[in-house]
Amino acid sequence: MASEQKLKLAVFGNPVAHSLSPRIHRLFAGQCGLDVDYRAIEANRESFPALVARLAAGGGRGCNITVPLKHEAWKLAARSSECATRARAANTLVFNDAEDWYADSTDGNGLVNHLETLPGCALAGSRLCLIGAGGAAASVLGALLEAGPDIVFIANRTRDRAAEVVDAHSGLGVMRIGTNQDLASCEPFDLIINATSLGHDGDAPALEPAWLKPDGLCYDMNYGGAADPLRRLCQEKGIRYSDGLGMLVGQAALSFTLWTGMTPDAQAVLEILRRDQP
Ligand code: ATR
Repeated sequence: MASEQKLKLAVFGNPVAHSLSPRIHRLFAGQCGLDVDYRAIEANRESFPALVARLAAGGGRGCNITVPLKHEAWKLAARSSECATRARAANTLVFNDAEDWYADSTDGNGLVNHLETLPGCALAGSRLCLIGAGGAAASVLGALLEAGPDIVFIANRTRDRAAEVVDAHSGLGVMRIGTNQDLASCEPFDLIINATSLGHDGDAPALEPAWLKPDGLCYDMNYGGAADPLRRLCQEKGIRYSDGLGMLVGQAALSFTLWTGMTPDAQAVLEILRRDQP
């Protein structure tokens, strides 16, 4: 394919050098017979708008955005999806033309799509717990509620922050809030999702087997080294566990479809990545 036909993409964030996104999108492009130029570009809140504009002006099709720029990305777009608007954050921009940048947040549906590949993980009618109420939790709550659980209990260190995230999603389903300590007195859950940043500090939220139903699952939105503390805790306590590598690939697949209209094979790419980092 000639260089002018290359699909030009990037991920912006800080830090971003070790992002798996370039590899994932190169694998997707290979599956779909596309030639891709996907770069990892470090940016901060000040430099980000000009760097994105340069990518778009140079023929870029769009970009991914990671921490700490997701809110800035959402603000830059003329139009955005409902879930990006609810989260006031975007992980994907699509450059349609200079006047029409579209923002979406594919994290939530990426998570739901991965959960649906796991045995016994039906979300409809389930009792679900989300630990955390920051940007990571806000980016997935809408998609989780749309999957039809009976209830989502949002447990957060700071109760007011949980109340804010519930307000932003009112009308989408039944939600209750509490602190992490309240989990001990809840009925057991089918699924507990860790959306805290504790893993990046080598720590994990408290978790007991009794907080889950016997076949329940603890899903960590972290992957790689940040997933180690909760993985270890679950191993010690005999709790079924999944890290968030499948969510990462799932959100990437949805971004790729927004840019190209093509549906890559996320499961095949996840298997390749698992071979490298079990
Ligand atoms: P941001 O806070 O920038 O939106 P995030 O990773 O989405 O980033 O959110 C961090 C989450 O981890 C929050 O839910 C935070 O709890 P608070 O809202 O009370 O700050 C949670 N968290 C971080 N450190 C924690 C700790 N030491 N104990 C418990 N929860 C913690």
